[in-house]
Amino acid sequence: MNKQLALFKQNNSKVLGMTKKCVASFVAVLGLASCFAASAKTDINQTKFPDQYKTWAETEEQTEREDMLASYPANIILWAGSSFAKEYHSPRGHQFAVADVTHTLRTGVPPKEGEKGTSASCWTCKTPDAPRLIKEMGFEGYSASNFTDLGTEINSVVYCTDCHVDGSAELALPRPHAQNAMSKTGIPFEKQDASMQGAQVCGQCHVTYYFQPEKSNVVNMPWIFGSDTDNILKYYDTRRFYEWIHPISKTPILKARHPEFEHWSRSKHAEANVTCITCHMPVEENAKGEEFTNHKVDKALPHFDKTCIACHESKEAITAQLDADKHEIEAMAREVEGLLVKAHYEAKAAWDAGANWEQMNSAIMSIRHGQWHWDFAMASHGLYAHNPDEGRMLLSRATSQAKMARAVLAQVLAGLKVDKVEYPDISSKESAHAAVGINEAKLSEAKQMFIKDEVEKHWNPIAVRGYQ
Ligand code: HEC
Ligand code: HEC
Ligand code: HEC
Ligand code: HEC
Repeated sequence: MNKQLALFKQNNSKVLGMTKKCVASFVAVLGLASCFAASAKTDINQTKFPDQYKTWAETEEQTEREDMLASYPANIILWAGSSFAKEYHSPRGHQFAVADVTHTLRTGVPPKEGEKGTSASCWTCKTPDAPRLIKEMGFEGYSASNFTDLGTEINSVVYCTDCHVDGSAELALPRPHAQNAMSKTGIPFEKQDASMQGAQVCGQCHVTYYFQPEKSNVVNMPWIFGSDTDNILKYYDTRRFYEWIHPISKTPILKARHPEFEHWSRSKHAEANVTCITCHMPVEENAKGEEFTNHKVDKALPHFDKTCIACHESKEAITAQLDADKHEIEAMAREVEGLLVKAHYEAKAAWDAGANWEQMNSAIMSIRHGQWHWDFAMASHGLYAHNPDEGRMLLSRATSQAKMARAVLAQVLAGLKVDKVEYPDISSKESAHAAVGINEAKLSEAKQMFIKDEVEKHWNPIAVRGYQ
């Protein structure tokens, strides 16, 4: 059976089978229309726009990803106390969005009766069912739900209606938090040209965000003052916001998440009107010689002869430039990681020896700010290609902030007569996990049981795509 047919069958069997929740709402004579509408959507877009549909489905071929914690075990120490330390992979094709968020140890398993689990907000950038549920349940009602409780409602990966008005080529921005943030920073979606709107549809998901604790974990983009590092930091610092308290150094930590849109928006390419679409979704011809936009959103460099060549002569020169920028940024990042790991443990040694907040305040703030700058660079996939200058600026600031923290800590430690600090073994993912008390095997076992008993039986098959 070919891939498209398999997909089609999957979607149809889902309509006939109906999900548990749909059946429940059928009985309650509520929400039935929305259950069918969600599944019926597939057909309109598939038959009306076969080239776009076919290439969209082909992101299933992009199976490769990297286990970032195995490649960079220092990250486990920097993210200790948060679920990022459990599992973190690089991104792959859009067709895996639902399966990967379901399987990652970060989203865990259903909470015990009466306990609060991971927020449903984790669905927000994986599926068009998220904006649908936000509309049906209210933003706070949706975000206050547990991630696993909404699993049976999720029937599609990143799809046409995430970026378009249903059944049409017109671009749309269905996520309310993205609408708000774009308006606040002076680029209201409805007032932009087609080129900027194209970037903005990607920017619904490929942006940094946090869950607002005072609003039931609603997704929010911290752009009130602006979307650059200083303005985001000002926003977080004036709100005294933190994601978690680091268990080793007691630092109130900030976490960046894939700020691709932010970095691109300040790049030379953005200035030249070159957007995500120019590079990742080039125009192609079908067998009949008709032009269409390639919806297999994939790596950009392989499209060199279709896109980059309009402005750059030599593929070799551009590849060499990209490699050089990548190596430089990676080397800077590794240096910062080493410094920050040491700073966390030096802070611990100081606390253990009886340091007080007055002595520690400036070092802890430097760790917070240094780690933020590092994360705002490293969480941005393709930074070296999107905005290498900003990458270098962020990492050089992170380096000086981490060094500043260590200089202050050295004084505090000397004052407390501490002359030896124990650092963790971060030579492998296993040793770093052991250092922060994460038992990956045990977490994986619980996850597998949940997948077998719940996901495989009751969720849409897209939730196990690539895992069977
Ligand atoms: C991740 C966002 C995204 C998704 C998902 C998406 N599109 Fe698009 N689509 C775009 C962008 C961006 C353009 C280009 C708009 C422009 O620059 O003119 C586009 C263009 C189009 C066009 C205009 C003709 C063309 O090829 O340029 C059609 C029709 C279309 N898409 C249909 C679909 C269908 C059908 C699906 C689902 C199978 C889909 N799109 C999924 C973002 C998306
Ligand atoms: C609804 C949210 C959403 C939208 C809209 C979206 N993406 Fe993504 N994108 C994701 C997620 C989630 C992943 C990671 C999927 C995984 O790893 O399972 C991803 C992965 C990617 C990848 C990695 C692909 C690979 O094989 O390595 C690229 C490149 C990408 N997106 C570009 C874009 C571009 C360009 C746009 C706009 C046209 C866009 N995305 C729109 C959510 C989105
Ligand atoms: C000038 C062309 C260009 C523009 C504009 C551009 N990208 Fe990229 N992007 C690249 C290149 C080059 C890479 C590095 C790997 C590759 O794709 O070859 C990359 C990498 C990525 C990755 C990481 C893929 C992975 O698997 O590691 C994502 C995600 C991504 N881009 C999304 C976006 C989004 C979203 C935008 C717009 C906000 C955007 N890109 C704008 C060229 C571009
Ligand atoms: C419409 C023109 C245009 C297209 C298309 C284009 N670029 Fe560029 N690119 C530019 C401009 C302008 C600069 C800035 C040149 C400068 O400042 O000297 C640039 C700079 C670069 C640089 C230097 C590093 C940096 O970001 O400052 C790289 C690498 C690069 N482009 C890669 C790519 C790749 C890869 C593609 C295709 C996927 C691409 N470009 C497509 C116009 C374009």
